[in-house]
Amino acid sequence: MEKEQIQALIRDAFAAKQFAYTPYSHFNVGAALLTPDGKVYTGCNIENAGYTATNCAERTALFKAVSEGERTFTAIAIVGSLQGQTNTLVTGPCGVCRQALYEFGGPGLTVIMAKSVDDYIVTTLGELLPYGFGPANLEKS
Ligand code: THU
Repeated sequence: MEKEQIQALIRDAFAAKQFAYTPYSHFNVGAALLTPDGKVYTGCNIENAGYTATNCAERTALFKAVSEGERTFTAIAIVGSLQGQTNTLVTGPCGVCRQALYEFGGPGLTVIMAKSVDDYIVTTLGELLPYGFGPANLEKS
């Protein structure tokens, strides 16, 4: 991916982070998911008083996109930080989100974990979830 495209996706993730609903952890996350034809779906984390009902930013973006007819994705940018603080660590997708993304992105999905538009890591879902279990595993031979 070109640097400009990466930075644009990071900006979209930061914009989505503003809507994070995090009364419990105060850890705000934003994600921006890119489709092959250049559409971007954003998401934030949405917490819940029954903690397990919390939804991560990545899955919010993914479910928004899939529920609107998207099935394939090329990249996702993720940003996260405690409210009012600047990032010291990049926010990597949690295990559940890696699995959820694997279903549609596969190992080739580009994952951008950013502290800022100038400070980010670019990797792939295959690196983050080696030997991932996906649709191919359920195909009959
Ligand atoms: N969270 C995300 O939204 N994405 C991640 O990749 C890591 C964790 C959220 C879940 C919860 O609302 C908060 O961050 C603290 O775990």
